[in-house]
Amino acid sequence: MAAKTNWYKEAVVYQVYPLSFKDSNNDGMGDIPGIISKLDYIRDLGATAVWFSPLYASPWKDYGYDISDYRAIHPAFGTMEDFDRLVAECHARGLRVIMDAVFNHTSSRHAWFRAALSDPDSPYRDYYIIRKGRIRKDKKGSEELIPPTNWTSSFTGSAWERILGTDEYYLHLFAPDQPDLNWENPAVREEMADILRFWLDRGVDGFRFDVFNLLSKEYPLRDDRNRLHFQKGTQYFVDGPRMHEFLNELNEKALSLYDTYTVGESYTPDEVHAHRYIHEESGELDTIFDFGHMTSDNVGGMKFIPRPFSLIKFKRGLIDPQLRYHGTGWNTLVLENHDCVRCVSRFGINDKKYRYEAATFLPVITYFGWGTPFIYQGQEIGMTNAKFRSMRDLKDPVSHFVYDTMTEMHIPARAAEKMIMFGARDHARTPMQWDGSANAGFNEGTAPWQCMNPNYRKINVEADLASDKSIYRFYQKVLEIRRSEPALLYGRTIEYYPDDRQVIAYSRDYGGKRFLIVGNFSASRADFIMPGDFELDELSIRLTNLDRTEAETEEIMQLKPYEALLFEENKK
Ligand code: NOJ
Repeated sequence: MAAKTNWYKEAVVYQVYPLSFKDSNNDGMGDIPGIISKLDYIRDLGATAVWFSPLYASPWKDYGYDISDYRAIHPAFGTMEDFDRLVAECHARGLRVIMDAVFNHTSSRHAWFRAALSDPDSPYRDYYIIRKGRIRKDKKGSEELIPPTNWTSSFTGSAWERILGTDEYYLHLFAPDQPDLNWENPAVREEMADILRFWLDRGVDGFRFDVFNLLSKEYPLRDDRNRLHFQKGTQYFVDGPRMHEFLNELNEKALSLYDTYTVGESYTPDEVHAHRYIHEESGELDTIFDFGHMTSDNVGGMKFIPRPFSLIKFKRGLIDPQLRYHGTGWNTLVLENHDCVRCVSRFGINDKKYRYEAATFLPVITYFGWGTPFIYQGQEIGMTNAKFRSMRDLKDPVSHFVYDTMTEMHIPARAAEKMIMFGARDHARTPMQWDGSANAGFNEGTAPWQCMNPNYRKINVEADLASDKSIYRFYQKVLEIRRSEPALLYGRTIEYYPDDRQVIAYSRDYGGKRFLIVGNFSASRADFIMPGDFELDELSIRLTNLDRTEAETEEIMQLKPYEALLFEENKK
């Protein structure tokens, strides 16, 4: 049994989406040998841990977030020997390994679910949430079978699927191919703890828990009376009544027996629960992802419904958790993942005009904050959203579910397509752009599972590293500075000008040392007045993305579009 350490507090996590990272055998799909060939690249960036989106056996109806065997590696990715080698190769480079734990649901092809459906007496029936439908009489008196509740799936449509040939339904908060597990059943909880131990025994160092705060549902199941067309039922399944208990049990039976790091991907958590999940005294999770700032350019987190970027919303999402949790828990800092569009192509940024500026601005204002940075593959070279020709180019089932729902709601096809292109997860899933050769060096020419972003001849790792405006090297600097400064790792965050609509500014202080982070999050020039508790002649520029010199630094100064600065205080 390993004593619990806090390695994650100084870690930098790089997220790999295995299907799109590097294809070593030219079959169009990324794989483990491909990942291994790029581990030096990840380490040299300054990452100290890698989170792998699901590598497990899966029919890929949701590209791995539908697991059919929790203890097997998907054959397209390699073998269990390849996986063991991956862990060894990561560890040899000082990289910790974080696996995805998708525990809210399995694949409908999982042996448990198949047994549950094929045998009414199977003990596996109680692994899932299966209920009889309800009879509804219409005005003419004829009867119709309707689902047990009116809950909606996150991917739109009813959260219930009828079991063929019966009057029963199973619950799926995501796709019908992803039946929800019944965490009320102690046998399910035992299985999950056992799965965690299986991977921990293979040397895994941590887990990212997929939509963890949906595990506990409120019983008896009932209709949600909210009037929204979407998100019906959330009050009964987000942060449910037994959430804390379930997490404690996983800790007791698996996580706390090893030196493990955990990050919970949360589904719009309630503040009080969120704090409890990560509170050092509760020990439930080390961190969560709180995606507040990711809702600053869409309507309430609904990623397909655009609205003008609000810096105020972004600041609240990025900075509030730092103010709220400091000293009692730990935080994460995220700009992208496999579910979001690319950060240089959103937040109101024109990625044609300001790609370099934004790609260097964003890590400064984000990763000098308090928390563990997460970097998504390709973000470090400023990969942009793709230009897809039509819906046919999109592989993510969610893009299609939502598109179909929109057209059913009589939204004209062109408008629906435009909204899908605005928020599609597919933008993050085009293959990694390594060089300017065919398929960007992702493989040797076989059509990749998801089409390339056509801009790969210009935007790729090789071109970036050869440029004197390398984004990758800028990230290296950011991470290097962060690693070497306790104030940037542990310091308290104090925000300035929270109501300013162009400028983001905050300080970090610890052990008598202070830093000031300043950025102009807009495409126009912005005035910045040095906060009163800093003396200009005690400040030096530690990092600038647009080559500002100290001679150009004044009490009141104009910041260029997407200019970001890290000031270091040197007290006289
Ligand atoms: C969150 C994952 O990040 C996403 O990709 C997936 O579709 C859902 N959870 C369901 O597992």
